[in-house]
Amino acid sequence: MALKTNIILILSVVVLFETQLCKSEINRIDFPNDFYFGTGSSAIQYEGAAEEDGKGPSVWDTFSHIPGKITDLSTSGIGVDQYHRYQEDIQLMKDLGTNSYRLSISWPRIFPNGSGEINQAGVDHYNKFINALVAEGIEPFVTLYHWDLPQVLEDKYNGWLSSEIIKDYANFAETCFQKFGDRVKFWITMNEPYTVAVQGYDFGRQAPGHCSLLPSPLFCKIGNSAIEPYIVAHNFIRSHAAAADIYRKRYKGIQGGSIGTILNALWFVPATNTERDIVATQRAKDFMIGWFLDPFVFGDYPSSMKSRVGIRLPKFSQAESAIVKGSLDFVGINHFTTYYVKDDSMNITKRILKDALTDTGAVFLPFNGTHFIGEMTNSLWVFIAPEGIRSLMNYIRLKYGNLPIFITESGLPDLSTRLIPVRHAYFYLNDLQRIRYHSSYLPSLLASIKDGCNVKGYFVWALLDNWEWDNGYSARTGLYYVDYTDNLKRYPKKSAVWYKNFLKPTN
Ligand SMILES: *[C@@H]1O[C@H](CO)[C@@H](O)[C@H](O)[C@H]1NC(C)=O
Ligand SMILES: *[C@@H]1O[C@H](CO)[C@@H](O)[C@H](O)[C@H]1NC(C)=O
Repeated sequence: MALKTNIILILSVVVLFETQLCKSEINRIDFPNDFYFGTGSSAIQYEGAAEEDGKGPSVWDTFSHIPGKITDLSTSGIGVDQYHRYQEDIQLMKDLGTNSYRLSISWPRIFPNGSGEINQAGVDHYNKFINALVAEGIEPFVTLYHWDLPQVLEDKYNGWLSSEIIKDYANFAETCFQKFGDRVKFWITMNEPYTVAVQGYDFGRQAPGHCSLLPSPLFCKIGNSAIEPYIVAHNFIRSHAAAADIYRKRYKGIQGGSIGTILNALWFVPATNTERDIVATQRAKDFMIGWFLDPFVFGDYPSSMKSRVGIRLPKFSQAESAIVKGSLDFVGINHFTTYYVKDDSMNITKRILKDALTDTGAVFLPFNGTHFIGEMTNSLWVFIAPEGIRSLMNYIRLKYGNLPIFITESGLPDLSTRLIPVRHAYFYLNDLQRIRYHSSYLPSLLASIKDGCNVKGYFVWALLDNWEWDNGYSARTGLYYVDYTDNLKRYPKKSAVWYKNFLKPTN
């Protein structure tokens, strides 16, 4: 009896302690009324059903089946089965109290051949999913291109390397406006073109796996890291502009939505206050953010890129520049962490082995000799550095005009494996680090709004643990734990409880 009382006492102390921890300093009511709080996903990472209902293969289906490309030897086929479980997952969103959800439409599910005949079963699926979201009061934010290019277009004209893609992409986008635009009010043309250009065509770690023979002789069969990333990015930018132009001319007036794109942006701080590191830090921002935002806002690439990349950087004709400039209604920012920047512009080997990253002439470090940029985490690459999100928002406000911004991804991956059943997942379920992350980033984001930044929403990456590209299932990012050993069952982590408390209306 006494023992039992003691246990109950200990349990209540633990519960009390953990409730305290889960209680955040701020609440959603501190944010503007029309602010969106959501979670994120993408088709390949979530849907599964890779060969069902007429879907064609994407470049990621192909890439993930090449041995050695995905760290845990998994493939893109199953995701977390959201194709079949979206009703159940919408209940999780409801339970959290989120009012929005980021999903992407799989291009090869709508056009198995990239263009031509529409696959009606694919259209039916997204109609059902979008209707179910809207019925529950959850605003769909729809990404049109989240990396799953139809393999047919890769085979036909090398995908993003060819400007032929612009008309096929625009046709896919317009089809989506026609089919879903009566209910979808937030269109995102691309997710992280920087990542595709650099990981797909410079490092070769992601689909379609291109890179130069040097410096990665064992890795890629094909590619040119000095040139291809810039061509691909150029075609992305022009494709966005073409889709935005169509949307604005033919749909926006009737449907009343808006169209933007998503960029991934680290924040950068000079490692020392030397002139060289300060200049290198600006270059890092230009090469990551300015590469895209400069064309979209000013109609041309940043001057630091033009001078360092030279003739390898494509040029916008006057007509192209005119359609690209001003083509964003908003920008989505995927922001996870901050790094110190050290100048590396004089590195001779790197100047010979030209590629998009070394063109930046900078190295990114979490430690500058005396300080860590933030708390190190179990992801190994995300450091909890909340000031960065505020600085980044202000940088965009001051440099690019006060464009509406959505934080379309933010969060913390946990290195893991898919082999851990939920009963052994205490460490992952008890994710206090993830709670520390969001409960420090949100006040900093709120501070940026008070600074005058036009921030409109925050989407936690991610709703569920999921298939994280070349990392396979080995990086768990969800508010919900997925038990891959037991039929992909979902379990709330502590961070889900924390987010729910944060979103709960207080009185
Ligand atoms: C895709 O192309 C193949 C070969 O050209 C054709 O047989 C098939 O009917 C096409 N499918 C669709 C959905 O357009
Ligand atoms: C490292 O950065 C911190 C600020 O984040 C700064 O106070 C410190 O002086 C820097 N260290 C060096 C060696 O410059």
